[in-house]
Amino acid sequence: MQERSADRDFAAYNEAQEGRPVRPLAVRAAQLVLEERGRSLRTTPDDRLVAVELGSGAGIEARHLADSGFRVHTFDADVSVEAGMAGMARTLDIIHTTTDLAVPFPIPPADLVLSCATLSFVPRAAFPQLWGAVRSALRPHGVLAVDLFGDRDDWAGTEGTFLTRADLEELLTGLEVLALDEEEHDGRSFAGPKHWHTYQLIVREPRHIAGTV
Ligand SMILES: C[S@@+](CC[C@H](N)C(=O)[O-])C[C@H]1O[C@@H](n2cnc3c(N)ncnc32)[C@H](O)[C@@H]1O
Repeated sequence: MQERSADRDFAAYNEAQEGRPVRPLAVRAAQLVLEERGRSLRTTPDDRLVAVELGSGAGIEARHLADSGFRVHTFDADVSVEAGMAGMARTLDIIHTTTDLAVPFPIPPADLVLSCATLSFVPRAAFPQLWGAVRSALRPHGVLAVDLFGDRDDWAGTEGTFLTRADLEELLTGLEVLALDEEEHDGRSFAGPKHWHTYQLIVREPRHIAGTV
C-alpha cells in the first residue's frame, strides 16, 4: 500500500466499482433518515432531504440516495469521476464538487452525511477540523454514517487517520450512537491481501442539542 495519500490510485479503484451493489451502510442510513422524516412534521414540498457524501467515488451510493428522494451533494478529490458524476446530475438531483477533504470547504446543512471508506485517507492533522465541520453540518435529527479504519489495520502507519478504540470513543463524545460495529479480519483489498480493522458507525447529534423533541 502506498505510504502517501497522493500516491494511492483512487481513479483505478473507482473505475473498478462499476456494477457493485450499493453499500449496506448507505442503504441503512438512508432508511433511518427516511423513517425519521416520516415521523417528523417537515412535510413542505420544497423542504427536500439533503444528503452529503464525502469521498463519493463512482457515485453508486449517491445514485441510491438520489433515487431515494434526497438532494445529494457529493465531494471527492478524484477528477476521473467528474464526467460520470456530471452524467448522473443530468437526470438526478446530484451536485458534485471536486475537492480535497483535507482543506476546509463549506459543507451544506444535511439530514444525512455519508462517507464510505474515505475519511481515514484524510491526514491526521486535518481530520479534527473535518470531523468538526461534518458535525456542524448535521441538521436537527441529522444522521452521520461513516466507516473508519482502526489502528490494527494493515494500512495503519501510512498517511491517514487510523483510530484506536479510545480515539474513536473520543470522536463520539456528545453524539448519540445508533450503531457501532468494530470488525477485524484477514481478507482482500483492491491492492491485494490485507488485514482489515474497521469501525462502522451510524450516529447523530442528540435531539436536545438540536433543539427538537
Ligand atoms: C476507497 S475509495 C471509496 C469510494 C466510495 N466511497 C466507495 O465506497 O466505493 C476512497 C475515495 O475517497 C476519495 N478521497 C480520498 N482522499 C480524499 C481527500 N483527501 N479528499 C477528497 N477525496 C478523497 C478518493 O478519491 C476515492 O474516491
